[in-house]
Amino acid sequence: MNMSNRFGAWVAILALGGAGAASGVLADEGGAPHEFHEIMEDLGDHMVGITEGITHEDWIRVAEHAEAVANHPRPPMTERVRIMAFAGTEVAQFKKYDNEVHEAAATLADEAAGGDGSAIITAFGRLQNGCLDCHTTFRSAYREHFLSAAD
Ligand code: HEC
Repeated sequence: MNMSNRFGAWVAILALGGAGAASGVLADEGGAPHEFHEIMEDLGDHMVGITEGITHEDWIRVAEHAEAVANHPRPPMTERVRIMAFAGTEVAQFKKYDNEVHEAAATLADEAAGGDGSAIITAFGRLQNGCLDCHTTFRSAYREHFLSAAD
């Protein structure tokens, strides 16, 4: 996906979500956004695929799953608005973590094409840290906000 399009979409959400964010941190009782959750589950599956690819030194498989992470779909606009309302004043941070994951996944795909196992594993570690950064910052607050079940 084209970076400038993605950025533009988030900026549009910022404008749309501003009113919700300004109204504070009221919980959203509409349930956790479904598509967003599905996208996350898919990301988790791709990470498993990457691990398997590394185990078998199957760099094509690594590259395919890394590409899928780098180009993961966005949730629909209605969900993005709700998520941005959740992020409120932290929206730039949320967006930054998302960008970091896209970039780390694209780097991993490039490394996989190069076939240097050690460099691939380093790039995979960077990608995992990208996931972790957002999760440690936002995941529990997100669940609280949407009153979704904790794991
Ligand atoms: C920009 C923030 C952000 C990034 C980046 C991010 N996640 Fe998430 N992730 C979340 C949030 C918020 C939830 C909680 C969603 C929910 O409860 O419905 C979540 C939930 C999940 C879940 C659902 C299961 C669970 O235990 O909560 C999986 C699987 C997951 N993420 C995988 C990943 C992987 C793999 C990456 C990196 C490739 C990643 N995520 C990157 C924010 C992020």
